[in-house]
Amino acid sequence: MVEADSRAVLGEDIAEFIDECRKDEHPRGLLIAVLHKVQAKFGFLDGPHLDAVAQLLRVPAADVSGVASFYHYFRLKPRGKYMIHICMGTACFVKGADLVAAKLKDELGITFGETSPDGMFSLEGTRCIGTCGLAPVMMIDENVHAEVTPDKIPVILEEYLQKARAEKE
Ligand code: FES
Repeated sequence: MVEADSRAVLGEDIAEFIDECRKDEHPRGLLIAVLHKVQAKFGFLDGPHLDAVAQLLRVPAADVSGVASFYHYFRLKPRGKYMIHICMGTACFVKGADLVAAKLKDELGITFGETSPDGMFSLEGTRCIGTCGLAPVMMIDENVHAEVTPDKIPVILEEYLQKARAEKE
């Protein structure tokens, strides 16, 4: 990839940010900050994004992909339309979060860190989100779903699917 292609992949805003980072004495130390910016813009980091960062920041591609895959925070695949976080903290766990998580995995056909084949839902387990009194708790985007049970899962997922269909109409 030539430099102009890398700039086109990331967009001029990020390319200019990387230009500034490169002036630093240790540009590699700013790699995580750059990756955060790229993910904030695109929602995930794919191969061309990582190659472009490597080229513009002048660090080895293996270092960039190593950092991106090491940190759980970075997503290497596009996320679904809706992001599900199921709390696996202690209070939620003792109230059956593991059963809710199992039902989610079963319904969506995916495990934590994956996106459903239809691109609608991404699933993550998370630590305590601070609403233990409502355990077990699940968040879908910014919405908190309290006292979730496995049998509520299909109903809740269907609500979001309907919402998505309504948006398309
Ligand atoms: S343990 Fe789930 S909200 Fe605190």
